[in-house]
Amino acid sequence: MNHTHSIFFSPTGTSRAVVRAVARGVNRPSETTLDLTRQEAPPARFDADHLAIVGMPVYRGRLPRTAIGRFQPLEGNRTPAVAIVVYGNWAYEDALLELCDLCTAQGFRLVGAAAFIGQHSFSSLKHPIAENRPNPQDLEQAEQLGRRVREQMEQPGLSMPELPGSRPYKEVPPDPFVSATDVDTASCTGCGRCTTACPTRCIEMVGSLPQTAPDRCLWCMACVRQCPASARRIVLPKIHEAAQRLSTNCKIPQEPEIFLPSGG
Ligand SMILES: Cc1cc2nc3c(=O)[nH]c(=O)nc-3n(C[C@H](O)[C@H](O)[C@H](O)COP(=O)(O)O)c2cc1C
Repeated sequence: MNHTHSIFFSPTGTSRAVVRAVARGVNRPSETTLDLTRQEAPPARFDADHLAIVGMPVYRGRLPRTAIGRFQPLEGNRTPAVAIVVYGNWAYEDALLELCDLCTAQGFRLVGAAAFIGQHSFSSLKHPIAENRPNPQDLEQAEQLGRRVREQMEQPGLSMPELPGSRPYKEVPPDPFVSATDVDTASCTGCGRCTTACPTRCIEMVGSLPQTAPDRCLWCMACVRQCPASARRIVLPKIHEAAQRLSTNCKIPQEPEIFLPSGG
């Protein structure tokens, strides 16, 4: 196993940070990065002696549908895979099970799974939620996971433990066709950073101002995080309410949970 594929969908960068740390721990001579945040994976079949590290955020206890679609052109050939979900300190519910099932259905063989904590996409100065996670301790645990995966892959006959979550997965209503964010025209500099940050390209420059098409907004907050002028603002009351509720109710820091094969 000399080659690692780091694969992630990560609008605000926390899933990417965790996947990268796991890859550092695996520490193989060559690595490919496949960032699915703004594009679908090109069709590819991975070799059996490669390793895939796959990371996605938790949205409403499940995987984002866009992330699933972007991962689907990839096929394993009993290729070992580590499945990682990153959640905002509230709950990951069925998301890890869903990612493991997705990897298995696409021909990968699980050699590790984990749920890590990332700063909540809705976190703000006023309503902080899991601020600055993953922190250095989280990233050290992610590297440690990578080292253990590398050691354990040499051992035959191990099998993955049962994972939290249940099938059928939790029902989530279809994505709402409404934009979560808007632009403060007084502070927008027209740089267009939000148009390239958006995973679904639902923001377009019209003249010197960005306009958002509501139908493809994922509420992911990539535009808010990446605006250099802090001109993107959340306009959906539901999100303000959720941020307020979560910053009050989710103060106790959760710890990463790691699942590795055992037995043999
Ligand atoms: C639409 C949406 C739904 C979310 N649902 C959950 C959730 O059910 N549980 C949770 O703990 N965090 C939830 N989060 C927070 C993200 O899982 C968390 O911020 C994650 O670190 C984002 O990953 P990224 O930085 O790779 O984009 C949600 C975020 C968004 C945007």
